Amino acid sequence: PHLHSLISAADFQEVARHTLTPKAWAFYSSAATDLVTYGMNKSIIRRIMFRPRVLRDVKTVSIKRKVLGCESSTPFFISPAAMARMAHPDGELALARGAGDEGIVHCISSNASYPLSSIVKAGNADQTFWLQLYVNSDRGKTEELLRKAAALGIKGIFVTVDAPVPGKREADERIAAENVASAISGAVASNDKKGGGMGRLMAAYVEKSLIWEDISWIKKVSGLPVVLKGVQSAADAMMAARFGADGIFLSNHGGRSLDGAQPSILVLLELHRICPDVFDKLHIYIDGGFERGSDILKAIALGATAVGVGRPYLYSLTYGKEGVEHLTQILKDELETSMRLCGITDISQAHPGLLNTSDIDHM
Ligand code: FNR
Repeated sequence: PHLHSLISAADFQEVARHTLTPKAWAFYSSAATDLVTYGMNKSIIRRIMFRPRVLRDVKTVSIKRKVLGCESSTPFFISPAAMARMAHPDGELALARGAGDEGIVHCISSNASYPLSSIVKAGNADQTFWLQLYVNSDRGKTEELLRKAAALGIKGIFVTVDAPVPGKREADERIAAENVASAISGAVASNDKKGGGMGRLMAAYVEKSLIWEDISWIKKVSGLPVVLKGVQSAADAMMAARFGADGIFLSNHGGRSLDGAQPSILVLLELHRICPDVFDKLHIYIDGGFERGSDILKAIALGATAVGVGRPYLYSLTYGKEGVEHLTQILKDELETSMRLCGITDISQAHPGLLNTSDIDHM
């Protein structure tokens, strides 16, 4: 279909389902075992209802947001996802160019298919990139990558903490892996007797013995703000503040790690109940199942600084850079419409009073 006939993130998913190779579709769309967390990420967001206000002059709206000290045209960004080249020859280069032209942040995966320097150079000179980090069990390699990231002007390190081992993604295991390698981590996908699970095969290098004390090492080596990606409880949010993290990223890896883990939005609500002070101490990011501007508005109203969007951007890559831009415009438009219909004109005005969460408050 023609790009401009697509009007929602779901439309991109439908096109991707029919145009990606069976392996790329399996790798991108899959989640752990019974897909419980994957499904609930989406369904629980939708059980939060709005409590819109009226008669508030909503002619002009602004969705600009400061994220980790950088200006972004939106309170959402591209979540890190491996091997974008399986969707389009330009892979992460197209993500970078699309993000640059739309003024949004791109968090680059440690398992990207292009080298870090090529991705950064593909974008505009003043564009913001973050780097997602899987710590290598060869710590020297991680130090090298962190220094390179700092030298390239990356603005933040997002250390993934929810995947010391990969989850079991059965749709991905059942199809033989394509012969691919990450140009950043060097991880290769080569089938073994368990199957062809790309996520699993490319995780062999990931350090399994990472602990809280390692956060200060990552901060010191990179000299950059450090955000922990994959925090899933108030208890760990408090630990993150105590151990000097700059931020937390509430995420369950899009349901790809521990199946049965609670949806990210429930973790956000848990922070309000158990440790509301972390909102003053930490930047709070969130992802998992956000596919609509209205979904994004709900998380911002609950105190998130910004929302990550994962799979929809991979699917948008079936149209290359133009797809990335068009999806971004759709999300911007949906967000602005939702804000106007809620009676707010600046994203900073979003607050919990705009929501009715009673359906999920006791989950
Ligand atoms: C991911 N994700 C991920 N996370 C990470 O920290 N490093 C990575 O390399 C990857 N790779 C990856 C590949 C693919 C194909 C997917 C779908 C996801 C997880 C990603 O950052 C994010 O947390 C989820 O995708 C968010 O959920 P949604 O938006 O896909 O529902």
